[in-house]
Amino acid sequence: MQQIRQIVDSEFAAVNDFIIEQLHSNVPLVENIGHYIVDAGGKRLRPLLTLLCAGAIGDIKQDHIRLASVIEFIHTATLLHDDVVDISALRRGRPTANANWGNAPSVLVGDFLYSRAFQILVEIGSLPLMGLLSGTTNTVAEGEVLQLSRAGNADTSEATYFDVIRSKTAVLFGAACGGAAIISNTDQHRDALYEYGLNLGIAFQLIDDILDYEGDPEETGKNVGDDLAEGKPTLPLIYLLKNGDQYQQELVRHAISNKTSEQLGAIISAVTTSGALAYCRQSAEHYTQAALNALTPFNDSPYRSALERLTVIALSRRS
Ligand code: IPE
Ligand code: IPE
Ligand code: MG
Ligand code: MG
Repeated sequence: MQQIRQIVDSEFAAVNDFIIEQLHSNVPLVENIGHYIVDAGGKRLRPLLTLLCAGAIGDIKQDHIRLASVIEFIHTATLLHDDVVDISALRRGRPTANANWGNAPSVLVGDFLYSRAFQILVEIGSLPLMGLLSGTTNTVAEGEVLQLSRAGNADTSEATYFDVIRSKTAVLFGAACGGAAIISNTDQHRDALYEYGLNLGIAFQLIDDILDYEGDPEETGKNVGDDLAEGKPTLPLIYLLKNGDQYQQELVRHAISNKTSEQLGAIISAVTTSGALAYCRQSAEHYTQAALNALTPFNDSPYRSALERLTVIALSRRS
């Protein structure tokens, strides 16, 4: 990641500066919570994608830097809301904003970040870009609601799971990439980059859902077992419900229906030994391959190879 960031070193620094500048508010609590989550870092993967996609097409312009910041603002807003909904206590290696300040301030500062993102978009002034980002944000919200409506439901299908992750995660990756082409005025690249981002985003969420069982909180900065405690029927569990032995099926059904992580140890061992996590990893590989295929129309460049390497990193990541 570090090496890839260096390819767009100065632009990446400009994004970080712009984000800090745009966090400004006259209300101290907004700035406190905003800085708290932004200063904790995060991988800044989505803005990195915007910059690399811009580079793969041509020049990286000032509006790409603004778009990259918009994407990170929207992402950060979803994290503030998501941690309230998921009752999560740890994010980016720190107590979550909801753990520190409570749910109400987290939701409201999330709203501030969403609306600030759209203020910046208005400054960029591209109606097609606003169309893309408003549609994306709307779909992310739908994805989170769909997920919520399936929590505690052990009869959720694999198709519904993929609907959820495409909506809540992958479309924002798609917009981070396809949006770069809108700014560059190269419509012919828009769909290919969107496809790249969408497929990478699906793989990214598949790995996130694996890490919720086998990750190390020291590396991910998040607790393990959050998904189980919320009764989320993610792919490792859907696999077990179909392919596990009778004991494993009952174990998982009970945990999901009762939204309990009491049996986390037994379930971690079941997803590991049954091949459930391996199945999820294979699925993630399928989507990173689709992401790679989407890059074929692009000329060789350091940007394109960085986008290619990110598909490998997305699979092997531990954080
Ligand atoms: C977390 O995203 C939310 C998911 C879509 C899984 P990231 O893993 O990109 O979070 P940060 O920004 O690096 O903290
Ligand atoms: C991704 O889902 C959340 C959003 C897209 C907002 P998760 O709930 O799995 O994300 P983490 O694990 O809390 O980061
Ligand atoms: Mg969550
Ligand atoms: Mg997760």
